Amino acid sequence: MIEIIRGAIQPSSGARLLDVGCGRGRLLDTLRREMPGLRLIGLERDLGRATDAHLLTQAPIILGDGQLLPFRPATFDLVVLGYALHHMSPSVRKGVLVESRKVLRPDGRLLVIEKASPRSPWGRLRLLMQVVSGLENRQVYSLFGQGLVTQLEAAGLEIMTDQRAGEKKSRRVVVARLTTEPGKP
Ligand SMILES: C[S@@+](CC[C@H](N)C(=O)[O-])C[C@H]1O[C@@H](n2cnc3c(N)ncnc32)[C@H](O)[C@@H]1O
Repeated sequence: MIEIIRGAIQPSSGARLLDVGCGRGRLLDTLRREMPGLRLIGLERDLGRATDAHLLTQAPIILGDGQLLPFRPATFDLVVLGYALHHMSPSVRKGVLVESRKVLRPDGRLLVIEKASPRSPWGRLRLLMQVVSGLENRQVYSLFGQGLVTQLEAAGLEIMTDQRAGEKKSRRVVVARLTTEPGKP
C-alpha cells in the first residue's frame, strides 16, 4: 500500500495529504512512520474516532463532514479515501468526491482504497453474509467494477491506475487525477 502511495505522489518533502474519513487514524499512522516528510491532515465526522486518530498520530484531525471540506481549493497533493466511500449513501458520496476534487492541486492525486469484488463463489457468499448480518455495508456493491470508475469520472476525475492489492488481492486501489480532457468537468 505504501508503495502505491509513494508511486501516486512521488513524495516530495512537505507534500500535503488529506485523509477523508480517517477513522481512528490507522492509515495516517502508517504514513507518519513510513513517509515522515508528508504533512498529514485527517478529517472525520465521528468525535470519538477523530479523538483516537489525533491521539494515535498527533496529526491535526478536523471534525467535520467530507461533503464540506474546510480548505481552500487546490490545497492538497494527495487526498485519500480509505474504506470510507462504502459508508456513504450515493448522494453523500457524490458530494465528498466533488469536494475532494476541489481541494486537490492541479497535479494532485486522489487515492481510493476499497474492498475488491470477491473473485470466488465462496468469497461472494461470505460478503453476502457480511452484508446480511450488518457487518458490511451494502453500498460496497455499488463500488465494484465500473461503478467506482463512473462515480469518479462524474466528479471530474480520471483514472490513472486501478489495481488489486494485498496478500489475497482483496483490496482495490484506484489512483485518479483531475480530468484534463477539455469539455469534462
Ligand atoms: C472504515 S472507516 C475508515 C478508516 C480509515 N480511513 C483507515 O483507512 O484507517 C470509515 C470512516 O469514514 C467516516 N465517514 C463516513 N462518512 C463520512 C463523511 N461524510 N464525512 C467524514 N467522515 C465520514 C466514518 O465515520 C468512519 O470512521
